Amino acid sequence: MYCFFDFYCLEYNFLLFFDKIETLLIISLLFITCSAYFLQSLQSKIINKILMKVAVVGATGMVGKVMLQVLAERNFPITELIPVASERSVGKIISYKGTDYAVVNLATAVTMCPDIALFSAGGDTSLEWAPKFADVGTTVIDNSSAWRMDPTKKLIVPEINGDVLTSEDKIIANPNCSTIQLVMALAPLHTKYTMKRVVISTYQSVSGTGVKAVQQLDNEEAGIKGEMAYPHPIGRNALPHCDVFLENGYSKEEMKLVKEPKKILRDDSFSVTATAVRIPTTGGHSEAVNVQFLTDFDLAEVRQLLSDTPGVVVQDNLETNTYPMPITAHHKDDVFVGRIRRDESQENTLNLWIVADNLRKGAATNTIQIAEYLIDNQLV
Ligand SMILES: NC(=O)c1ccc[n+]([C@@H]2O[C@H](COP(=O)([O-])OP(=O)(O)OC[C@H]3O[C@@H](n4cnc5c(N)ncnc54)[C@H](OP(=O)(O)O)[C@@H]3O)[C@@H](O)[C@H]2O)c1
Repeated sequence: MYCFFDFYCLEYNFLLFFDKIETLLIISLLFITCSAYFLQSLQSKIINKILMKVAVVGATGMVGKVMLQVLAERNFPITELIPVASERSVGKIISYKGTDYAVVNLATAVTMCPDIALFSAGGDTSLEWAPKFADVGTTVIDNSSAWRMDPTKKLIVPEINGDVLTSEDKIIANPNCSTIQLVMALAPLHTKYTMKRVVISTYQSVSGTGVKAVQQLDNEEAGIKGEMAYPHPIGRNALPHCDVFLENGYSKEEMKLVKEPKKILRDDSFSVTATAVRIPTTGGHSEAVNVQFLTDFDLAEVRQLLSDTPGVVVQDNLETNTYPMPITAHHKDDVFVGRIRRDESQENTLNLWIVADNLRKGAATNTIQIAEYLIDNQLV
């Protein structure tokens, strides 16, 4: 009897032992699988970080300089920086994170086969050189208007339509500065109430025209006669003239505001009209926007929708004179929205005042966010 009991105890312990082994085996297998998965994703992240060779084309310009600042601030995973500019600047030294780099020309940069090239050197340069970089396997993100409306190229604001990007996209267009801040504010409202018509009046910074325009304003303020970027003085003035005039009487900048939002929002059911004006500010572009929706809205809900949108900040308190201004948007990556009010002259219509730093979210930051999206999603 005693023995019989012992035998059962032994068998019980034996089974328990195997049960434990089985459990241990399962746990070990799970551990190995999780570790392998973790190591694999870590490895791909490390590989991406180790191999990122980045060319900044237009590194000596307004946008290029801010790109270098934003790349450094965001700790973009660069192992080799290639600053590129015109022949005039070849050999100039650009300092990035404490290291000096000599500016090279476009032909040299192509032979260096960068992983990513961030272009801000004008439309003609992009048209000629972006395909040459793409041919050597570089992913180009271009700030000029050269490729924006090309149906084979994607026009990206990562928060809105980053999801359309694939590893096949070798030339990606960054929208116009005035468009980016506009769609950042309008996208959540369009999703909720459906836009019918948008009327935009811009008040644009001279930094949007580049180094020469900022120099013109500086010269005028200092009483120096110098090279003119605009056909008229810009100090103490307002020019209803941004970019060149087109056959239809609109400026090219105005037509960018008409066309680009439709491509980004993948919807051409709404209509847009714009007047673009250059004013003597440097910190950012401002826009007075009147938008009519198909459905009615609640103002508190509009404020909430905008406040809940990443990258959008509501500044709207009349009691404290709080509203967006170029001087406070300067050097910031967010898009600021204020003066949110109902248009009492027309049903379902809203008035907004939108301000952003045209060199940050309007250009450099958005470009670098596109590059970050590509890296995070292993598309480059
Ligand atoms: N400023 C803005 O707010 C803004 C916003 C969105 C988009 N963009 C677009 O970004 C681009 C640059 O604008 P930006 O304001 O920075 O102009 P910018 O201050 O005049 O700078 C132009 C840059 O392009 C370089 N460059 C000019 N011709 C070149 C060539 N043939 N080959 C190589 N590099 C050349 C210049 O080099 P050098 O110094 O050697 O001349 C300089 O680095 C434009 O296409 C503009 O439409 C500007």
